[in-house]
Amino acid sequence: MTERCSVCARPFDPQFAYQFAASEAGRRFFCSLDCRKEGLGGTSFGGARRARRVAVLNQKGGTGKTTTAINLAAGIADRGFDVLLVDMDAQGNVGASLGIRGERSLYHLLANDPTGTTVDDVTVPVRGHLDVITADATLAAAEVFLARLEHARDRVLGDRLQSVRGKYQYIILDCGPSLSILNQNALSFVDEVMIPVSCDYLALVGVKQVLRTLKDIDRHLGHTVRISGVIPTFFDGRTRLGKEAVETLREHFGERLYTPIRRSTRLAEAPSHRQTIFEYAPDSFSADDYRRLVERFVGAEAQPSETSQPIAVADAAAVESSADFAPRRELITPGTLSPEEHFETTETPTEPTRTA
Ligand SMILES: Nc1ncnc2c1ncn2[C@@H]1O[C@H](COP(=O)(O)OP(=O)(O)OP(=O)(O)O)[C@@H](O)[C@H]1O
Ligand SMILES: [Mg+2]
Repeated sequence: MTERCSVCARPFDPQFAYQFAASEAGRRFFCSLDCRKEGLGGTSFGGARRARRVAVLNQKGGTGKTTTAINLAAGIADRGFDVLLVDMDAQGNVGASLGIRGERSLYHLLANDPTGTTVDDVTVPVRGHLDVITADATLAAAEVFLARLEHARDRVLGDRLQSVRGKYQYIILDCGPSLSILNQNALSFVDEVMIPVSCDYLALVGVKQVLRTLKDIDRHLGHTVRISGVIPTFFDGRTRLGKEAVETLREHFGERLYTPIRRSTRLAEAPSHRQTIFEYAPDSFSADDYRRLVERFVGAEAQPSETSQPIAVADAAAVESSADFAPRRELITPGTLSPEEHFETTETPTEPTRTA
């Protein structure tokens, strides 16, 4: 049903929880987060609170973690929130994708070199409201440093990031594809994870591994990390594999499943132009996909609804054990196409060309 924004009077169709507020004064509608902030002021999100800390994680490589972390961070920053994006991967893809190279990187922060590196020393402002801590191959040395520590080697990242308290509303970690001690540090720091899963069989198996890691963290650190979103990536709705993969994920994750991010050449091209998808192809369906993801992610925070509640890791255990975590049998029977073949034989959907 169309409503009129209580701040700018624009007619719009409310879709997210944050677009609605009920108070003694009556019902109010907000077309955007800016309007909500303007309309409700300091109370718009329940007052000041610590940063929302999220890791974008999947042990499997190439599932769209970095792409998601960058565009999620950029999309949130575009909405006026202060965001810190931390590259937790020695591949250094965040800096490379945004065209920056920090003079000092996460290595210096974690290994705490003799000059006493602070968070400010390693933070690079890259866009309005968006700061980044980059990583590079030296991060491997930081891992060795962490592994040699006798105590609390899983909590070093959290200790080092203490000083940014209050500076950011969101801290997003782009994790590498491993079960490394770095990712254990990431998981002991965050409260929630977003799991991009590419729509193929092996990636679904990767989710099972992530759930195990979350359980381990819960057991060893006594720290619950909730799954706030599972994001199907590289989705092609014209392939049976794509649709089946999403169905399989939906059966296991229910309301935690985000709308798929479609496979697109624009997303693959954006990093080589050192741009986010919103800069490189703002009119593309990929920009729409990530806009939708950002809206849901931020909207769930603004006013969690019944249907957008994250699940606790305890529930993750139930999800994992509830059934064989595998796509439907017909996808893996001999004679059907392999995931790679499915994608290779289909055309990439056409998109509007880039606008200036
Ligand atoms: N939806 C998509 N459609 C097409 N290409 C994509 C899509 N998402 C990401 N890519 C491209 O696929 C490659 C892998 O994506 P990305 O680097 O985000 O994955 P990752 O999970 O971070 O990988 P890694 O595990 O190595 O860190 C990149 O070249 C990226 O540009
Ligand atoms: Mg990556």
